[in-house]
Amino acid sequence: MEDHLHRRDHTGVQDFVLLEDYRNPDAFLENLKKRFHEDLIYTYIGPVLVSVNPYHELDIYNPEIIHSYKNVNFYELPPHVFAIADASYRSMRGENRDQCILISGESGAGKTEASKKVLLYIAASSTHSSDVERVKDRLLESNPLLEAFGNAKTTRNDNSSRFGKYMDIQFDYKGAPVGGHILNYLLEKSRVVHQAPGERNFHAFYQLLNGASPITLKQLSLTAEPDAYFYLNQGESSSLQTMDDQANWRAVQHSLDVLDFSQQQQKALFAIVASVLHLGNVKFEADGKDMAHISNPNLVATVAELLGCQEDKLLLALQNKTIEANNEKLRSPLTVDQALYARDALAKGIYDRLFTWIVHKINSSLSNRCKIKCSLMGLLDIYGFEIFQVNCFEQFCINYCNEKLQQLFIELTLKSEQEEYQREGIQWEPVEYFNNKIICDLIEAKPIGIMSVLDEECLRPGDTTDATFLSKLGETIGKHPHFISHSVADNATRKTIARDEFRMLHYAGDVTYNIKGFLDKNNDLLFRDLKEAMVETTNAITSQCFTKAELISKKRPETAATQFKTSLAQLMDILMSKEPSYVRCIKPNDYKRAGQFDEKIVLHQVKYLGLMENLRVHRAGFAYRRPYEVFLKRYKSLCPATWPSYRGHPKDGVQALVSHLKYGEDDYRLGKTKIFIRFPRVLFATEDAFQRRKHELATQIQSKYRCFHQRKVFLRMKISAILIQCHWRRVIAQRLLERRRKAALVIRKFVKGFRYRNEPECEENREFVKFTKMNWLKRLAQAAPQSVLDKTWIPAPRLLAETSGHLQKLCTRNLVLKYVKKITPTMKSQMKQKVVAERLFKGKKDVYPHSVKDHFVDSRLAPHHATLKDKLQKLTNENIKYCTYVTKYDRHGYKSRKRVLFLAVTTLFVVDEKDCKVKDRVPYSSIKGVHTSNLMDGVFVIVVAASEENGACKGDIILQSDHVIETLTKLVMISNNESVLQIAASGVINHDLAGGKQGQIEFSKGDNYLVKKGKGGQLLVVDGSNELRLTNSDLDLGAERTS
Ligand SMILES: Nc1ncnc2c1ncn2[C@@H]1O[C@H](COP(=O)(O)OP(=O)(O)OP(=O)(O)O)[C@@H](O)[C@H]1O
Ligand SMILES: [Mg+2]
Repeated sequence: MEDHLHRRDHTGVQDFVLLEDYRNPDAFLENLKKRFHEDLIYTYIGPVLVSVNPYHELDIYNPEIIHSYKNVNFYELPPHVFAIADASYRSMRGENRDQCILISGESGAGKTEASKKVLLYIAASSTHSSDVERVKDRLLESNPLLEAFGNAKTTRNDNSSRFGKYMDIQFDYKGAPVGGHILNYLLEKSRVVHQAPGERNFHAFYQLLNGASPITLKQLSLTAEPDAYFYLNQGESSSLQTMDDQANWRAVQHSLDVLDFSQQQQKALFAIVASVLHLGNVKFEADGKDMAHISNPNLVATVAELLGCQEDKLLLALQNKTIEANNEKLRSPLTVDQALYARDALAKGIYDRLFTWIVHKINSSLSNRCKIKCSLMGLLDIYGFEIFQVNCFEQFCINYCNEKLQQLFIELTLKSEQEEYQREGIQWEPVEYFNNKIICDLIEAKPIGIMSVLDEECLRPGDTTDATFLSKLGETIGKHPHFISHSVADNATRKTIARDEFRMLHYAGDVTYNIKGFLDKNNDLLFRDLKEAMVETTNAITSQCFTKAELISKKRPETAATQFKTSLAQLMDILMSKEPSYVRCIKPNDYKRAGQFDEKIVLHQVKYLGLMENLRVHRAGFAYRRPYEVFLKRYKSLCPATWPSYRGHPKDGVQALVSHLKYGEDDYRLGKTKIFIRFPRVLFATEDAFQRRKHELATQIQSKYRCFHQRKVFLRMKISAILIQCHWRRVIAQRLLERRRKAALVIRKFVKGFRYRNEPECEENREFVKFTKMNWLKRLAQAAPQSVLDKTWIPAPRLLAETSGHLQKLCTRNLVLKYVKKITPTMKSQMKQKVVAERLFKGKKDVYPHSVKDHFVDSRLAPHHATLKDKLQKLTNENIKYCTYVTKYDRHGYKSRKRVLFLAVTTLFVVDEKDCKVKDRVPYSSIKGVHTSNLMDGVFVIVVAASEENGACKGDIILQSDHVIETLTKLVMISNNESVLQIAASGVINHDLAGGKQGQIEFSKGDNYLVKKGKGGQLLVVDGSNELRLTNSDLDLGAERTS
């Protein structure tokens, strides 16, 4: 907060309350001046805004600035008329209290401008809707129209309001403007017929002449030269640099359209303005009897045409006066002066009533259509205090009005403030101030007051004149301290007052009034003849403004002063019923010049506006007060003891609150019903703390709500999830059920099919059979034999038994075919040999299984005997089919010799391994037998038939081969004689020895292989079956190879 204050105070102080030397007018002035030269035209005195007219446009009313003042604490931003408008608007909405903004100050101080800014702010900051926009437009558009008809250039102000205006803006409960109502006060109608030098008539005349199209002007019989009209040329300043009459005319026309003035009404309005101008040019000449004659009756004809009345009647009414005496009507001709007076009275009367009619018309256009109760915000822009060279009845009324407003200000601020302190029992040091009630009483008191005396003079029969009125004043109120006239003044003063003048010592200064016209103006006389003429007009407006009822009424119309006094009293009542805000306008100089600060003139205004007293009261008093309930309600959140609610008496709550906030002892006082806070900064600090707290609370509420909301969302999601789960489970269960049902059906069908499986195909078993077939075929596909040796075959159901048989055969055939296709010629011959070997030896000789696993080869010669075969080949020209190492046991003493056996196509050779010498050569045809044992040994005996070649005496050949099965198989196959092979099962083989002797070979089983000569001369062969024991697997392998 301190930050804010410091930041705002860089040029003087923004609030005079913060002024150190607050009792010193010079300090006050200095602050105002300093700020004025920095274009800081606004300064506060507490809640009162002091505004100094800058006389040049400032960029402080743009939409951004409007926006920045929206809903902002009054003290947070630099002083501004928008801040006053905002505070008032918020107070109206927040506390539901009708408001009024009183803008006061002397002529040219900027009241009307300030009121326009307030209106601008209200229009910009309230809510938007088409209806509201319509009302806003109309409220804003009422200004150009009223200014055109009610404002004029005076020596003090180029756009001086010559009427008082009080505008009520009506707001609905949402704070949107929904209607408005304008009250107008005492238009200075004398201006219509007369202007002081340097002044102008009402703007409307000049705007019409300068802005209207030539056609319109022609229709109104006007020329575009203001100086051609008597009512416009008296002030000799018809053109005005600061006013663009043409642009304003366009603005007026736009306003007329927006405010629902029909074309007919607009025409009537222009006709009235024109007719007033024409009337002013009507001239009178005196005839021989000194009676008035119109010298330019054509103008009257024009007026009659424009207003729609009879020309003759108007002519007569302008030159004569009908007097009623003893129920007889007498027409009396008028003198030139009287005629001029009647003419001017008519012009003033028409224009005055036209203005009132315009206000009514605007009111009907602004009227609130909905009947719901509205809040009101009043805006008072009334003519300011005036002192002219010559001051007349109008100035008297205007200044009286300002006295009343000052009185109201005193009532509401100074007096009531002090009274409130007393009421609340707060110690208070009274502040001296000038109470202008005495002047108000001087003017309005009954029976002795200036107005009463004036009325009396107007009503009194006999010869009453302005002079008699003045002498009456001298008699009645001559001794009043605020009244001076020539007759009652002391010698020194008398020199400054003429005999037809009186002076009043107003609160704002002394004003000398010239009494000329007081009575006439107060009587406000319009001759009956002229009224009658007007009642008959067809002009849409005058016909409404002048009514027959007025003519019939016998009641004497109220005097202008009484009317004004009554309407002012009503205004005061209206203002008293509302919460006021003040804008006090100050004029910086008399020349309407920017940047010029005339200290004398400003000081004078500061004094008479009572700003110093105002400041003193604020400094002595308290800047802020609120009932305990209201204060506690707003700030209770700042103290734990009062938050969220305080149960005790509100005063105690407030006490607890301020103690908690550590208010200084001098910062506040507790009254009977209210708390009083002395300095704005204290309130500001509290408000700031509240704003911060509000955010905290909002955050808390937000977080709670978010939590609550999230929980709601969560619970919803949970319920949804459960629901989805339930549904999904149901779906799954349904699907399972469905599957189980289907499965049961399938099983049932299957069982049924199984039971009917052996029946011919029928409905019951069709599926089953199909399935069984398919199933078996599938299994078969997986488990079908992959090789010819694999004899497995999965058993087939009965109904496929036949198929199974076929398939098995097919499969075997197929496998065989595949196998056969893979067999090479080598393998084939190997196979043939193995088949032969099997046939010869399987189950007959023990060593056979051991031979199965080895391939039969054509040569068993070792690699280092590679040349041996070539040598053997040289021994015969036959092809050598087989050769192998053998051991030969000779036929004499069974001596063993290393030999090579080779088999040619027709002959068997046994050769020495060393020298390759043929030892035996036996043609196959000579072989009578080949004997071998049934044991594991490799010994065999070739029985040779006696021949020339070998000689029988050599005996049989006893050989031993390590590959006896192969050797014997080859021998049998090459010799092509299987029958020669004999396997001895007895364990003895007899054979022939050389020289025809007989030998014997004994075979026996034994662990170690042994061939030796026995003691009986026989050859003993032990088969060494242990050495050659083979594993079963080897045997199996061999068996397979064979097959
Ligand atoms: N805030 C402002 N910014 C710029 N110019 C201003 C401001 N206030 C007033 N003026 C100027 O001062 C002139 C007179 O102001 P305004 O008409 O508001 O005076 P007033 O107090 O209404 O006088 P009166 O009592 O004669 O009607 C305006 O026409 C305008 O040129
Ligand atoms: Mg004004």
